[in-house]
Amino acid sequence: MKLIAPSVLSADFSQIASQIEMITNAGADLLHLDVMDGHFVPNITFGPKMVADIRKLTKLPLDVHLMISEPEKYVNEFAKAGADWISVHYEATDHLNRLIHQIKDAGAKAGVVVNPATTVDVLTEIIPYVDFILIMSVNPGFGGQKFITTSTAKAKKLSGMIKEQNSQAFIEMDGGIGVDNIKMLSDAGVNVFVAGNAVFGSADPAKTIAEMKKLIS
Ligand code: DX5
Ligand code: ZN
Repeated sequence: MKLIAPSVLSADFSQIASQIEMITNAGADLLHLDVMDGHFVPNITFGPKMVADIRKLTKLPLDVHLMISEPEKYVNEFAKAGADWISVHYEATDHLNRLIHQIKDAGAKAGVVVNPATTVDVLTEIIPYVDFILIMSVNPGFGGQKFITTSTAKAKKLSGMIKEQNSQAFIEMDGGIGVDNIKMLSDAGVNVFVAGNAVFGSADPAKTIAEMKKLIS
């Protein structure tokens, strides 16, 4: 499975309805929504109301990336708002296994995210329980940052760990992804590619998405 997930963080929020319509028609497979609390990461975006409002604008699955402290307090609300996938940071919770079950019980696909400095080795015990693992390939908080090159080896290693456990979990990557590196990441085992700046910053987002899809097909 290979999917392109444009990140709405790079959209113009004052034109959100037309931006969502544009990116839906441009061939996005799902929408990546970045929730930031100004505490876990040094930036603030939006909460469940925005997710519920975006839910009304598209039929695409909503992939909600929670960059917040105490995610256990909020995951049910995001599921209720219409999130299809919910991911929480390994670094943000003391009880990851419990939280993953909480997300699944709320009816969403459950994912765990690791920051660039966190090794995938810590995921061995959670792999059997998650639907997906998101590798951050930039430090979370902002769009348009430079890809951290060690992320490629991380994806390869994780891909091996997943196979070893006969798990169906898929690998998502987020940050600094574009036409220049997507093929290499796909070859390393990444299944879902988040792209903010590369897509919304493109003069022709539909063409860029088509190009990306061709590179990973
Ligand atoms: C960063 C966010 C990303 C961001 C990616 O903290 O999690 O989803 O939007 O943006 P680009 O693709 O521009 O690096
Ligand atoms: Zn993200």
